[in-house]
Amino acid sequence: MKIFTSKSALSKFLNELREQKKSIGFVPTMGALHEGHLSLIDIARRQSDVIVCSIFVNPTQFNDPADLEKYPRPVDADIEKLRGADVDILFLPSVEEMYEPGESWHLDLGYLENVLEGKIRPGHYQGVTQVVKKFFDIVKPDVAFFGQKDFQQVLILRSMVKMLNIPVKLVMCPIKREEDGLALSSRNIHLSSSERHNALALSASLNSAKDHFSVKSLDELKSDAIAFLSASEGVELDYFEIYDAETLQPATSKDVGSIVALVAAKVGETRLIDNILLK
Ligand code: PAJ
Repeated sequence: MKIFTSKSALSKFLNELREQKKSIGFVPTMGALHEGHLSLIDIARRQSDVIVCSIFVNPTQFNDPADLEKYPRPVDADIEKLRGADVDILFLPSVEEMYEPGESWHLDLGYLENVLEGKIRPGHYQGVTQVVKKFFDIVKPDVAFFGQKDFQQVLILRSMVKMLNIPVKLVMCPIKREEDGLALSSRNIHLSSSERHNALALSASLNSAKDHFSVKSLDELKSDAIAFLSASEGVELDYFEIYDAETLQPATSKDVGSIVALVAAKVGETRLIDNILLK
């Protein structure tokens, strides 16, 4: 695995591969890698000749400085995992390599950044789109892989790619879970064993909505989930919503093409998100 910290050196190397007609698959991450990240790499390998992975804890997408501060950064262990996963290229830039001092620009993401995570974490998706746009400019991937775990992130990036005519195909990969249902997340290491147990309420609420989808109305599914989560020990609910999976507008009928249930809650000091496609 080749490791690059300089964007110009990486670009130059990738240009040579492109001249050899190699297709480039890209998996951006913030590190603290787990099986969820590795599942993206597995899918990427089946669809591209060369896999580029990035590890960059992007400061502009953290609206809470304490959250940025405590974000785990086990770089050496991450590098070993990527070697084990046969990643070809790792891009490991510094903040200075990615951002000009005082740099500030923003995209009008419209409605999509004002709901759910966007509403609760102001500026978060500006940071995500800024850094992913920069990565796309540097790596110029043919295909980029993102997890359904961050469902709203995928919709926002799809919208950015369309708005800016970026020639990349985005692939949304399924959520990797522990056997008991907990969605893998870099934040899970902050959970104590009792909190980890309490956190199972999130996936349980989603699975129950899916199980009852054909027999209950959307309103009932939502109110059942909210009642369940509100009564769950150690869970402080931010939202449970049932949305049209294309637009993230509230789903008012089961007749739309695709419907997603999304949940966010604090378990102890750790904020967790999860979702499931109901249709
Ligand atoms: P990060 O949280 O490190 O996640 C990197 C990628 O892994 C994202 O596409 C995310 O959706 C995916 N992922 C996380 N947990 C997963 C799971 N349990 N199953 C499947 N995929 C999972 O998302 C980011 O980083 C950043 O916002 C980034 C896109 C890198 C921009 O900074």
